[in-house]
Amino acid sequence: MRDNAARGLERARRRTAELTEFDDAELTRQHSPLMSPLVWDLAHIGQQEDLWLLRAGDASAQGVLPQAVERLYNAFENPRATRATLPLLTPGEARAYLDDVRGRVFDALDRLPDDAAALFPYAMVEQHEQMHVETMLATHQLRDGTPILGPGTTVPAARSVLHDGVLVPAGPFELGVDGSDEPFSLDNERPAHVVDLPAYRIGRVPVTNGEYRRFVAAGGYDEQRWWSEPGWAHRVEAGLQRPQFWTVDGGRVRFGAVEDLPDDEPVQHVCFFEAEAYAAWAGARLPTEQEWEKACAWDPERGERRRWPWGAADWTPALANLGGTGLRPAPVGAYEAGASAYGVEQLMGDVWEWTSSGFEAWPGFTPMLYAQYSAPFFGGDFRVLRGGSWAVDASSIRPSFRNWDLPIRRQIFTGFRLAWDV
Ligand SMILES: [Fe+2]
Repeated sequence: MRDNAARGLERARRRTAELTEFDDAELTRQHSPLMSPLVWDLAHIGQQEDLWLLRAGDASAQGVLPQAVERLYNAFENPRATRATLPLLTPGEARAYLDDVRGRVFDALDRLPDDAAALFPYAMVEQHEQMHVETMLATHQLRDGTPILGPGTTVPAARSVLHDGVLVPAGPFELGVDGSDEPFSLDNERPAHVVDLPAYRIGRVPVTNGEYRRFVAAGGYDEQRWWSEPGWAHRVEAGLQRPQFWTVDGGRVRFGAVEDLPDDEPVQHVCFFEAEAYAAWAGARLPTEQEWEKACAWDPERGERRRWPWGAADWTPALANLGGTGLRPAPVGAYEAGASAYGVEQLMGDVWEWTSSGFEAWPGFTPMLYAQYSAPFFGGDFRVLRGGSWAVDASSIRPSFRNWDLPIRRQIFTGFRLAWDV
């Protein structure tokens, strides 16, 4: 287990390095008020590792950095729009800081007992770094100028697949997980508990660019009746006309390159309000997160959860679009072998999927070591996103994993699938 923890930390660091191996001007520039300059993410990754793995979360204990410098990397104290104005470490200083912390962390890891409880903080920090890798990819996507990331590796080809709704019969299932099954699950995924749902249908595959394009062409952005009240207000105020990064003439910008919009890829860069309006136009609705998780993880024949939608086997690139190297979603139908017990496809990877659910604690919730991770956000104006995007590493996603964001956000790699009452 210790070896796995070390390998996971190293894999996360390789990805961080790939996204930050650019000149200082690139790293210190603020590409969007929604995002930090990359150099902030870089040093923040080290600061969190220092805090949780070298000081057990005690911010009053002396870390590797002086306290006044360390505070610049507190995400709660420094909103993203202000981070470029702070006296941040230079990229060179930030890299040296990360190396220094990592050396000390590996020394500490060698002295730990080889058990899940001792290693939980290491898995938590690995997942934190992987989350920032995805955040940094979103920053790269917002960046203007000539492309610096390249086109990405190839993803599996499309296969002809029904875009229908798969029936999930009524009945109880186990929602969430316990530490005994998923030792490195985060606090908001726990505990496992039984939930009974009425029958519903859920999209076999996510909604595609081609389908969403018809909504745009049909005037969906001009007809208030498809939008919720806050959704329409936002549509008007923000002047939304199509998904973010779509061009007026039917193409898209992806990491600085203009290209044709692939009709069979899941639509991405839509906010919750756009997803909700499309669903209304299509005579459907968004799934709740409970419906999403049942369709993903429940095996109705055996009456138990699967570790992954496809079963117990570890992830491979043939099962889901994870790991970030493709730099885009794969076309629908690309992962027949990754289907869930109900036959629902592409639940893991490709795009984060908006659900209709607000972010709430499961009954019996207990905060983890990083107590401010989930609890401050329960009950706010957030919507839950499920399944991870192509940018997410397999170490940092599970059928029980819950992400959340404001309903107006769309710079993240978000799409959706539909659901229907039966
Ligand atoms: Fe963070």
